[in-house]
Amino acid sequence: MSTTFIHGGIVVSATGSQPLDVLIDGETIAAVLQPGSTALGSDLAATADTVIDATGKYVIPGGVDGHTHMQMPFGGTEASDTFETGTRAAAFGGTTTIIDFAIQKPGERVQDSLALWHDKASGKCAIDYGFHQIVGSVDAESLKGMSELVSEGVSSFKLFMAYPGVFYSDDGQILRAMQTAGDLGALLMMHAENGIAIDVLVEQAVSRGETAPYYHGVTRPWQMEEEATHRAIMLAQVTGAPLYVVHVSAKQALQQIAEARGKGQNVFGETCPQYLYLSLEENLGAPGFEGAKWVCSTPLRARAEGHQDELWRFIRTGDVTTVATDHCPFCMKDQKDMGIGDFSKIPNGIGGVEHRMDLMFQGVKDGRISLEKWVEVCCTAPARTFGLYPRKGVISPGADADVVIYDPNGHTSIGLGKTHHMNMDYSAYEGFEIDGHVDTVLSRGRVLVDDGAYLGSAGHGRFVKRGLSQNLI
Ligand code: URP
Ligand code: ZN
Ligand code: ZN
Ligand code: ZN
Repeated sequence: MSTTFIHGGIVVSATGSQPLDVLIDGETIAAVLQPGSTALGSDLAATADTVIDATGKYVIPGGVDGHTHMQMPFGGTEASDTFETGTRAAAFGGTTTIIDFAIQKPGERVQDSLALWHDKASGKCAIDYGFHQIVGSVDAESLKGMSELVSEGVSSFKLFMAYPGVFYSDDGQILRAMQTAGDLGALLMMHAENGIAIDVLVEQAVSRGETAPYYHGVTRPWQMEEEATHRAIMLAQVTGAPLYVVHVSAKQALQQIAEARGKGQNVFGETCPQYLYLSLEENLGAPGFEGAKWVCSTPLRARAEGHQDELWRFIRTGDVTTVATDHCPFCMKDQKDMGIGDFSKIPNGIGGVEHRMDLMFQGVKDGRISLEKWVEVCCTAPARTFGLYPRKGVISPGADADVVIYDPNGHTSIGLGKTHHMNMDYSAYEGFEIDGHVDTVLSRGRVLVDDGAYLGSAGHGRFVKRGLSQNLI
């Protein structure tokens, strides 16, 4: 087994930051030591196989992105990152674990759809990965399948109140799935938008000739998100299922989550960097067809209504528990452009798996969140929420040696053109300048990225079986 000694840095956890040295033995963290400690009896900087000088840098747990869609079939096409390209891009950005979504289509057994996703990912991933299960058709058979999946390490299930005719579940189906999740102690994840009403608004807009990408946002107003979020919370309350509301973008929806949490209900909010930084006016409203780059659901919200500032505040209050990317990339050419002349044909999704750690660190630099909150929402809370803790999300003895050396004085330009590693022909964050830099990324003791050089390999990443959520109130 080879050893790695990281010394001179500040170890940042969800609860505090202090100068500490880290010893890795093989794939796990062997010890976290006071600087200069001789507890292990020798000069580790001289005896370890690999020595990393982290002076002036932060040493943090590898990022855990709890919401990605590699090669997801959607809207007549497929998300442009494969498990191979998407996980390599994630590694470049300091993320060492993703949780992706297996998708059950009507008429398919959930177990079979999970097997299909295992086939897609196995041997391809640069970093460790888990799966949530999308239940596209809630019926007696799929409800039975849920308990089998939990025992195979897939302990969370996503339902959709949006996309009628595709992934949509009605309230009766939601209630049944929540009853089953409640019985199993499994997390029920919800895409909370009133899809039935939204589809009417979309049809009416298109028939009026309002076909530009901007109208994607206009036809999915915040009221449709707030209403669905409230309904999901009430159904979860009746059934006792823990509820995790994905990709929340409306401040009103978060207020619903905050109130439920205030009453002690197990409800968790997830948001994504796009909802913190981008907006309906500036992005979806870009000239011509440019706005298609930012078509995703829930949609980007109006800055004039103050959603972005409120979302940052809800991160500080803890009502946003986790920040994930909802990485679902599509190229402009031959994918997003399917919706020229009709925004409803634009495949929904934004790619960003590579930029989450940097974008959220910028929140630290901008005085929006503390250093510890950054690690909490990007690493520790997702690990706990999705049953991966303490193997992931923390630097402590016995944990997997997933470690990022982050330079707070470095700089990252998300340049014009292709400066990223995601398989996309544009970047949703083009022109962003980040006051920080991912220097070195280790996954289970192996250096994957070192100052811009890729040292990893497809197949290093393993499937991780997850337990039940450890984050219940
Ligand atoms: O627009 C989005 N969010 N695409 C990915 C699928 C989903 O609903 O999460
Ligand atoms: Zn969704
Ligand atoms: Zn998603
Ligand atoms: Zn650097």
